[in-house]
This record gives sequence, structure tokens and C-alpha cells, in this order.
Amino acid sequence: MARQAREQNRIIGLAPTMGALHEGHASLIARAKRECSPVIASIFVNPKQFGPNEDFAKYPSAFESDTEKLKQAGVDALFAPEAAEIYPRDFSTYVHVEGLSERLEGRSRPGHFRGVTTIVMKLLQIVQPHRAYFGRKDAQQARLIELMVRDLNLDAEIAVCPIVRDPDGLALSSRNVYLNGEERKAATVLFRALQAVKKELEAGSRDALHLQATLRRKLESERLAAIDYAEIVDAESFEPVTRVAKACYVLLAVFIGKTRLIDNLYLEPKSPGSDHLAFHL
Ligand code: PAJ
Repeated sequence: MARQAREQNRIIGLAPTMGALHEGHASLIARAKRECSPVIASIFVNPKQFGPNEDFAKYPSAFESDTEKLKQAGVDALFAPEAAEIYPRDFSTYVHVEGLSERLEGRSRPGHFRGVTTIVMKLLQIVQPHRAYFGRKDAQQARLIELMVRDLNLDAEIAVCPIVRDPDGLALSSRNVYLNGEERKAATVLFRALQAVKKELEAGSRDALHLQATLRRKLESERLAAIDYAEIVDAESFEPVTRVAKACYVLLAVFIGKTRLIDNLYLEPKSPGSDHLAFHL
């Protein structure tokens, strides 16, 4: 399909997913539909990106309703391989983006990003899209994929799409189904903490330590929340900043009970060097 589309000078779009589809995934597909034809989605719960104590075995799966959703969304093809097709028994070649893969998410989930970059590399090779769509909810993942594409001269453009949230602010995630009623309410603390930081930034505060203290205080006020990390980092290097002056992420990973949730606020100067910030929450 990809070869034929390329020969016809059509732009092929790919939205990689692990299934249990929600409106966040749908937003990637909707954008791909606006920009590409054909649009291909993939569903593959990639064993190599789960740690030994993580939720691979119980990762939510909804293949029938997923395929229905993809049909409704106008996806032209679905790539949903079996693990054995993707990883033969003696599979031994990995893509590892050094440095950034070991920090933040990578520190809490050793080996996770090596699994992600390896599967995304394979999906790009198999599907051969011109453009692949990722969500900003997984900001570090999106950045690593951009670095991999640049470093390995891959012929694909990476598009990063905004976070889709429930009406109360919780970022949509396939893992939200793990939350019980009380935890689901508590989980809004991630959004509330990011909003508190946004408010201080809007009032002119730029000191990262001060903003981080606000973030932590807000998160710690929720009894069911345990912070994994809460940091303000440069949007390219993901190194901590002391002042918010160029594009940054306020990045969160928080346990609500046993469920680990991530979220972020992306900020960038409205024009180069400007002190006025645009917020993407
Ligand atoms: P998965 O968690 O299924 O997410 C698939 C894509 O949807 C990712 O690019 C993710 O950032 C995006 N996404 C998830 N929730 C979102 C939300 N609330 N708003 C906007 N986008 C959202 O991320 C993965 O799968 C895997 O690591 C994958 C890239 C498929 C590699 O296995």
C-alpha cells in the first residue's frame, strides 16, 4: 500500500498506538486525515517497552471496539501485527537514543525508551509513512523520536499533537481505566498543579525553583498522590532550567494509588526572546 501511494505522490500518514483507543488517539488520526492520504494506524502492545514489574500482562485491550473506532475515523488501513512477527526469537537489534533515554521517564522505567524507539523505528520501516503522528502527552517520547529520526536520517516527518483531556482536566490515557472512583477524582491533581504553575507564570514569575515548589505543594496536598518527578526542563534537551526563558516543559509523573500517570504543560515565548508566554496545557 505504501509503495503504491508513494508512486502516486500521495502523502502517507501513520498514527502508532497500543490500542484501547480514546479521543487522544482520535486526535492524531483526525490531524493525519487532514494532512495525509492514506492514513494508517497501528495497534501493537509492544512487550519491549514494558519493564518486568509493569502492566504488560494486564494492559487494556479492546480490539473489536478499536477497529470500529478506526473505521468511523476513516482510517484507510490498520497494521496490527503479532509479537512473533515483530520480534523473532533471536531478535537482537535495538535503537537506543543515548542520554535523554535515561532521564525522567527513562530513570523510572529502565529500558522503556529503548523499546519505544526500536518499535517506532520498525513501524517507520514497515509502513514507510511520510509523516508520523505522536501526542505531546508523552513529550519525552516525542522528543526522542524526533532525535532518532534526525540522527539516523530517516525519511519521515514527526508531527506532535496537543494533549486531549477529559472535561475535568485529566489527560486521556489508556491507563485511566485502572483508577477507582476515589482515585479518578484525585487524579485531577496533576492538571490542577499544572494550572497553579500556569497562573504564577501568567503573573510574571519565571524562577523555576519557585514554580517547582508550587507544583510540589499542590501535588502533595492530595492524599492519594505520590510524586515520581515534577520538573521544569528545556523543551529540546530536557535538562532542568533555573529560569523559564525559552520553550520549556513542566513535566509530571505521579502515582495515584498504584497507577502511574504523566502530564505536562508546554510553554514557549510568543515570539523569539519575548517574555510573553504561550501555554499549551
Ligand atoms: P499509546 O500510549 O497508545 O499512545 C499512542 C499515541 O497517542 C502516542 O503518540 C501518545 O502520545 C498519544 N496520546 C496518548 N494520550 C494522548 C492524549 N491524551 N492526548 C494526545 N495524544 C495522546 O505511546 C504509545 O502508545 C507507544 O509508546 C507507541 C508510540 C505506540 C510505541 O509503542
